Amino acid sequence: MFVRGRHLLLGVGGGISAYKSCDLIRRLQDNGFVVTVMPTKSSLNFVGAATWAALSGRKVYSDLWSDVEEVPHISLAKDSDAILIAPSTADLIARLAQGRADDLLTNVVLASTKPKILVPAMHPEMWLNPATVENIQTLQKRGFLIIEPDHGRMTGDDVGIGRYPKVDRIIDEVNAHLIRNADLIGKKILITAGGTREAIDAVRFIGNRSSGKQGFALAYAAAKRGAQVHLIAANTDLPIIEGITTTFVESADQMADVVNIEFPFSDALIMSAAVSDFKVTNRSDLKFHKNDLNTLDLELNPDIVSNVSASKKSTQVIIGFAAETESDLKNLLAAGKGKLSAKGVDLLYVNDVSHGQVFGSDETSGFLIARDGNVIDVPNISKDTLSEILLDQLSIALG
Ligand code: CTP
Repeated sequence: MFVRGRHLLLGVGGGISAYKSCDLIRRLQDNGFVVTVMPTKSSLNFVGAATWAALSGRKVYSDLWSDVEEVPHISLAKDSDAILIAPSTADLIARLAQGRADDLLTNVVLASTKPKILVPAMHPEMWLNPATVENIQTLQKRGFLIIEPDHGRMTGDDVGIGRYPKVDRIIDEVNAHLIRNADLIGKKILITAGGTREAIDAVRFIGNRSSGKQGFALAYAAAKRGAQVHLIAANTDLPIIEGITTTFVESADQMADVVNIEFPFSDALIMSAAVSDFKVTNRSDLKFHKNDLNTLDLELNPDIVSNVSASKKSTQVIIGFAAETESDLKNLLAAGKGKLSAKGVDLLYVNDVSHGQVFGSDETSGFLIARDGNVIDVPNISKDTLSEILLDQLSIALG
């Protein structure tokens, strides 16, 4: 299991309102979460595992003694960004307050260092019982966020506090609680990654050394910060990122088609792909044999980023990349500034690739140039860290 979007574990306690979490899961997905459901054994009396598997599109975890070789309580705790338990029953709350680990869900909670959010739902007598009140206070002291239940009609005839809250309120409170890490919620970000290939014949192409690592790192980081990401990947070997819409392309023309369609509906474009400047006009659908070909005729590809920047709205932000073989700092910055204005982008990351150390590597060094001439020096950092720095700037620019 490998999730790199915003990954939420949804624990489901054994209460009648478990069915309301079927709606909640959909709304969480609309908010950019990949959701893995962990129902308690007793909750399966109300909503079965098949329903959770169908709604989440993912494996459902409910049994401590299944998949033991995967050590699921540790891997689930580590791979998730937060745990939300809805509904949380009085018994489950009591077990959590005692730090017990007598089923899979309580094991995962105990093993997790991530934010934990409870949505209690029960009859008013149980919610107001001093035992539950004390358990809730204990959990709050330990940093659990408690989303207070609503007041209203219960399963029987009684009325009072303890109802499963409106899903809208749960979503608002979850987003607000996780907001520090989610400054890109509601933003649609288009990211290109990898290197385009231009066919020469049925077996050969003109390509480049881009691995796609930077674009994938950006997509991963943006999704974690709540953005709705559309990744356009050209010829990479990297594993797909669950929870992120990915379109696979090969050539510059194919990439241009997707960018042209998607850009008008996006808040930002990050053009980290290495795009081939030329394509072959005398290409063949069959294989060229040695004697068939003396010269390659080339024509210019569309300049994808320049084309979309010409029609960009003032609210949209574009980030470009420039890989130069220029080890002289002054010349490197001049090249970067020239490209920033020629391409009409808002920010440009320029780096020197003279010694071949950047392509395929996990590390990068360069300069981030803004339209106002401001330069941020980015020395020897990981592509993950560069992603966070670029997204910080993007977040500020998007306002
Ligand atoms: N780019 C693009 N379309 C192209 C070529 C490049 O959108 N046909 C984008 C790249 O994704 C990158 C930026 O433009 O964000 C700069 O890429 P680079 O290859 O350095 O630009 P070129 O215009 O190809 O410049 P050069 O003449 O130096 O090759």
